[in-house]
Amino acid sequence: MSNKMWGGRFATGPDAIMEEINASIGFDQRLFRQDIAGSIAHATMLSETGILTQQDRDSIVAGLSDVLAEIESGSFTFSRALEDIHMNVESRLREKIGDAAGRLHTARSRNDQVATDFKLYVRDTIDTLVVQVHALQLALVTRAEEEAETIMPGFTHLQSAQPVTFGHHLLAYVEMLGRDAGRLLDARKRLNESPLGSAALAGTPYPIDRHMTAEKLGFDRPTANSLDAVSDRDFILETLAAASICAMHLSRFAEEMVIWSSAQFGFIRLSDKFTTGSSIMPQKRNPDAAELVRAKIGRILGALTSLLVVMKGLPLAYSKDMQEDKEVAFDALDSLSLSLAAMTGMVGDLTANRERMRASASAGFSTATDIADWLVRQLNIPFRDAHHITGQIVALAEQKGTGLEGLTIEDFKFIDQRIDSRIHKVLTVEASVAARQSYGGTAPANVLVQAARWKTLLTGQPHEPRPLSKKKSSGHGDGGVE
Ligand code: ARG
Repeated sequence: MSNKMWGGRFATGPDAIMEEINASIGFDQRLFRQDIAGSIAHATMLSETGILTQQDRDSIVAGLSDVLAEIESGSFTFSRALEDIHMNVESRLREKIGDAAGRLHTARSRNDQVATDFKLYVRDTIDTLVVQVHALQLALVTRAEEEAETIMPGFTHLQSAQPVTFGHHLLAYVEMLGRDAGRLLDARKRLNESPLGSAALAGTPYPIDRHMTAEKLGFDRPTANSLDAVSDRDFILETLAAASICAMHLSRFAEEMVIWSSAQFGFIRLSDKFTTGSSIMPQKRNPDAAELVRAKIGRILGALTSLLVVMKGLPLAYSKDMQEDKEVAFDALDSLSLSLAAMTGMVGDLTANRERMRASASAGFSTATDIADWLVRQLNIPFRDAHHITGQIVALAEQKGTGLEGLTIEDFKFIDQRIDSRIHKVLTVEASVAARQSYGGTAPANVLVQAARWKTLLTGQPHEPRPLSKKKSSGHGDGGVE
């Protein structure tokens, strides 16, 4: 039997393989809510413009609501012979209300319909993802505030560079995620034009009101060119690009969690809820969730690449190639959502090993820059020379097998007579971080200000910076040296 939706000119139905390659119902069924909302808006507009009688409109809207309830309750049977969600819904509507159902497709095509449905879906997904990004940011900000005075090694080239605060490190991800949310919302803004009523590709002779359907569906305006409207997939590409960048950030953070939770680093302990054991090595706690988050970028960026390649070289307007947009996009957006949830869980549950971090922060001559800065500020030595002198100090410490704080004043004077005992104060990691109060720097006081700023932004409630704890050095810009 030929297809009852479009098979008028066909003598036979499709080959089984044709049906298999052609059908998208297996994955596009998740657009049912958007599809039905789009159809209700379209039918309502058709009756308000006099193209459809009110009676037909009422039975279409009531029928579509029934279909929606059937799908939501799980009693709907999807049919592959009906190809996709659009024809599955319309066919069921016809079973329910009869001939009036056939009038719903007046002045539209599946080409503008699928573009509309998918835009609505992507828009809803962006909204959910942004909420999730904010939840992760809030989890990070909360930890950052708690760990504002926790000192850890800061790295460049993964070599111990200068001490930083753990709170500052966590807030670095809050900044990245802030840009991620911004990119998603930016994509949403450009996405928000309604393709509905562009019909197959050229528009329609019916006196439709595209502004009305756009408004009913929460779009800012209708798209201005029907050819563009049915063949544009920028909205999903942009969203996948934003998702890829976000996934890349999560991957970097996940990698740090993997490193930090290793026995060799021991900076953090991930909770039992987000780790697994080994069936053969009883001592193991594997950071599987972090590893999987680290990996998800592969599929998410894969989806972006895949869809860019699908779209490349496609002539206007719609081509069936474009049906390949959905599976990869669904998978990518699901993966990002799951990664965000897993990260939020891990951040909330992890414990920081403050002693271990601090001990590690003072290893590797990490306060050498502070010595150079002291020579500049206290002895007025040009920075380049100070750098050279400090290099000699480090070499001496290395030779003596000690850290910088293990050097005596005689050791310092041996390198440069001008140095005096005040140098000892700048050798501690506490003094080092407290001194870095330049805007955006790692000082605990800065971290508390930034944490409060983010809390205010994320919760919409004003937050004052938490005061520094008394016992710690307050550090007023000169490494505690007067
Ligand atoms: N299932 C199709 C898709 O996802 C819907 C549009 C089909 N249009 C057409 N003219 N065959 O792209």
